[in-house]
Formats: sequence, C-alpha cells, structure tokens
Amino acid sequence: MNVGSPAALEVDRVTLELGERAILDGASFAVGQEEFIGVLGPNGAGKTTLMRALLGLVPVASGSIRVNGAAVMRGNPSIGYMPQIRSSLANRRVLGRDFVAMAADGHRWGLPLRNARVVADVERVLALVGGEQLAARLLSELSGGERQRLLLAQCLLGDPRLLLLDEPLISLDPRHQTGVVELVRRVQRELNITVLFSAHELNPLLNSLDRVLYLGNGRAALGTVDEVISKPVLSKLYGSPIDVMRVNGRIFVMSVDIEIDKLDHAHEGDEHAHEHDHGHRHGHGHHHHHAK
Ligand SMILES: Nc1ncnc2c1ncn2[C@@H]1O[C@H](COP(=O)(O)OP(=O)(O)OP(=O)(O)O)[C@@H](O)[C@H]1O
Ligand SMILES: [Mg+2]
Repeated sequence: MNVGSPAALEVDRVTLELGERAILDGASFAVGQEEFIGVLGPNGAGKTTLMRALLGLVPVASGSIRVNGAAVMRGNPSIGYMPQIRSSLANRRVLGRDFVAMAADGHRWGLPLRNARVVADVERVLALVGGEQLAARLLSELSGGERQRLLLAQCLLGDPRLLLLDEPLISLDPRHQTGVVELVRRVQRELNITVLFSAHELNPLLNSLDRVLYLGNGRAALGTVDEVISKPVLSKLYGSPIDVMRVNGRIFVMSVDIEIDKLDHAHEGDEHAHEHDHGHRHGHGHHHHHAK
C-alpha cells in the first residue's frame, strides 16, 4: 500500500437497505490500494448491491463509504464496472474493437463522436488485455472467455483506479475461469489498481487474490483466506454451522451434514423436517456450499 494515499475503499458502519431488508447491517471494512479482493457470499448476500452502492446507484441508509478518499458519486471516473447482468450486445454482429469503443462512447464521454482520445484509449485497453486479435473479429463469433476479455477492456477505459467486476466467471468452464482470473491479476499488477472480483467459487481465485471479502447475514468479513474461510467466521455469516475442508490445495465450504439427525426426527412432524431439510440441502461434501 502506498503510504500517504487514501484507502481504495473505506466502508464505515454501513447499512444498505433494499425494500424492507437490510442487505448490509452496520458493516465496516477497508480495502487498501492495489489489493485484489475476492468478494464471496451466498446468493442474495449483497455482492451486487455493495458494488452498486460504491457506484452511487444504491443509497447508503446509514454510515459512510469513501472510494479513493472521496465520497460516493455517480459516474465516478476512478471506478471501472463490469455488471453481473451484461448487455445483449454480446449477440450482435459487431466487431470486437467497436464493442469496446461502445462503452467509451456511451458511458464515459457521453458523445457518439469517436475522437482521437477515445480511439487511442480503445487501442490501449485492447493491448492491455491482449485483445488485438479479437478486435477485428465479430463479437457473436467469440467464445465466452474471449468476450470476457473484451468486457474487461471496456472497464479499463478512462484509466480507473478501482475495478468492480461482478461475477466475471459465470458460465465459463474451469479452464477459462482460471484464464480470466489470471488476466485480471496481470492487468491489476501492471496498472497498480485495486480489484473487487465477485464469484461463487473461491477456488479459481485462490492463487490470485490478496484478501477475501465474505458477505452474509448482513455482515462482512474481510481478511486473508485463512482468517475468513474458517468455521467460526463462516458459520456467523451463514447463520448456520459451516464446515471448511481443504483438499489438495482447494477449499470447500459446506453446511455441517445433519442427515442422520434429520432421519431420526423425520416422523416427528413437519416442523422439524423443514428445519433440518434446510440445513441439509448443501450437505454433500463434494459440492461447494453455494454453487449455482
Ligand atoms: N431492487 C430491489 N428491491 C428489493 N430487494 C432487492 C432489490 N435488488 C435486489 N434485492 C435483494 O437484495 C438481496 C441482495 O441481492 P444482491 O443481488 O446484491 O445479492 P448477490 O450477493 O449479488 O447475489 P448473487 O450471488 O445471486 O448475484 C437479494 O435478496 C435480492 O433479492
Ligand atoms: Mg450478484
């Protein structure tokens, strides 16, 4: 971390509410400059909501958020964002280069005109992600992994200091997942920027991340893998007993298996059966707790 420069992210007793629900409930953590943070947590934990709050798209109910030392603002040019739900542009017959340029035209400069600065920036980000070969190909003919490369290029337009990447690994096979993570890591180090990278699986990120931000139950835990991916911390975040298993350098997070307990009580009536059903759903060891 650079001495003297503000933290990339300071989240101080922040509560985020959607509808009636508190998605985050008085959460505090700080992310340093040039950290690669894996953002994890079950479906609905608030990974997307947190990113949207950093962008000023979700209001803070209480507490404060500072990004690179400044208050949250919409259209913050120091943030690059890859949303979880990605545009249907992906199916259009558009060249890779033009696809990248669209983000510049639409978002950052707000001008349909492609000036020399935009053109140069598009070439810069294409080179950064190793996308020169993809630039002249049709988007509709690229693989998911190749398209991901161009989406990353889009986020790098305008030279942001913080990247918010929401589930870049969704729908990629394991080999391509690793490729995308390694690409982001390389770019992050080359540019000395900060990355928040949300995912459903910890393992593809293990070799690249500096720390983990785990969300659940309105809480947030930020720390090293060893600090956060532990029985006590995760049991608190899930609100139920969690086991952590390490096998051949991979980590598996799962509910404590209570199947025997459930069978014992199966005849006692619906109330118990429901309770135990819930806990058992993810109980099989070879499954990640919140795999989709
Ligand atoms: N506009 C909204 N109004 C009310 N509730 C919402 C709204 N948007 C999202 N939610 C709820 O907020 C919670 C957090 O959603 P969020 O999308 O941030 O979770 P997530 O961690 O990104 O989940 P996933 O892993 O499925 O992407 C969910 O329970 C969701 O249903
Ligand atoms: Mg999400």
